[in-house]
Amino acid sequence: MGYAKNPDCELVAIASRTEEHAKAASEKFHVPKVYAGNSSWEKMIDEQELDIVSICTPNYLHAPIVLKAIENDCNILCEKPIALSREELSQIEEKLKNKNIIFFTSFNKRYNPIFRLIKSILDEDILGKITSVRYFFSHYGPYKSWEAISEEKWFFDSKKAGGGVLLDLGVHCIDILRYLLGEYDIVNGINFNTSCINMQEEDNCNVLFRFKNDTLGLISVSWCNEPSETLDIFGTRGFIKVDMSGRNRLSFGPKSLKRNKVIKRLLKFKPSKESAQNKLIDHFINCIQTKKQESPNFEDGKKAVEFVLDAYSLKI
Ligand SMILES: NC(=O)c1ccc[n+]([C@@H]2O[C@H](COP(=O)([O-])OP(=O)(O)OC[C@H]3O[C@@H](n4cnc5c(N)ncnc54)[C@H](OP(=O)(O)O)[C@@H]3O)[C@@H](O)[C@H]2O)c1
Repeated sequence: MGYAKNPDCELVAIASRTEEHAKAASEKFHVPKVYAGNSSWEKMIDEQELDIVSICTPNYLHAPIVLKAIENDCNILCEKPIALSREELSQIEEKLKNKNIIFFTSFNKRYNPIFRLIKSILDEDILGKITSVRYFFSHYGPYKSWEAISEEKWFFDSKKAGGGVLLDLGVHCIDILRYLLGEYDIVNGINFNTSCINMQEEDNCNVLFRFKNDTLGLISVSWCNEPSETLDIFGTRGFIKVDMSGRNRLSFGPKSLKRNKVIKRLLKFKPSKESAQNKLIDHFINCIQTKKQESPNFEDGKKAVEFVLDAYSLKI
């Protein structure tokens, strides 16, 4: 949708496994060329002279398609997680060297303006030194929270998904926290269970970690809960608790913070109707036009996957 709306962008081809799905999308978005089948993406990238390859397939296909797109000098927007292993990350990193390719990871949460306000609060030192953060993110899980395009339940297949809820939702949380607080240093622990979905990987997961600046972190994600997304930030001079999904958007302390101008803006914050994904696509296209690599880039996608792999390595 974002590409179709962008006036500087022309959709030229679509590749999907199922022909009728590919045709339906091509009719909806007026895409002239359709490729169908398991390796349709390979044929499309070989045959078409593409400026951009946009990857929104199941997770296990992300790295192979990225590698093929790099070989063909295409700019890339890849869905998260951008890869499933350190080996895949290294292959991509190696191939990107000496190429003038704009690579974006689809971390669309970054385009929610609420995070810019939260970042101003941290950058302006309103809460003092940040001592700990807690990010809680949950919904009912794939195929319940939204309707999938493909019929296979690949999210619940370890080989195709590469992990469970941590790899799906946790990557968003660590990306936002890295944007707000800088690099994480070490993952200290993980606990998890598989409580509501018939699958091998985790559908509930908590990860404890520490940032390079010593802030303590907790990410708690679930595919088994009511939709909810909250971020708590504690500092030596105060705290904020931001509810991204509910009506009580902000609680804070001490009370004197209500006089602060950024806190006032956060109290008045109304979610934008503009789609974050469309904003991300506009930003990506603008970076290609101006030949500037900005975030969320390959490094951001890589760090998020590494965080999850670090946590998984502690699974017993
Ligand atoms: N950034 C975000 O917030 C966000 C939100 C949702 C999803 N995602 C990511 O987007 C990706 C897709 O998720 P989804 O929920 O959209 O999955 P989905 O509904 O199952 O859609 C997957 C798509 O990939 C196609 N596909 C599968 N195998 C293919 C192949 N071999 N060649 C070409 N196309 C193939 C499917 O085509 P057919 O239908 O023809 O089989 C379908 O169109 C995942 O990586 C997910 O993590 C990100």
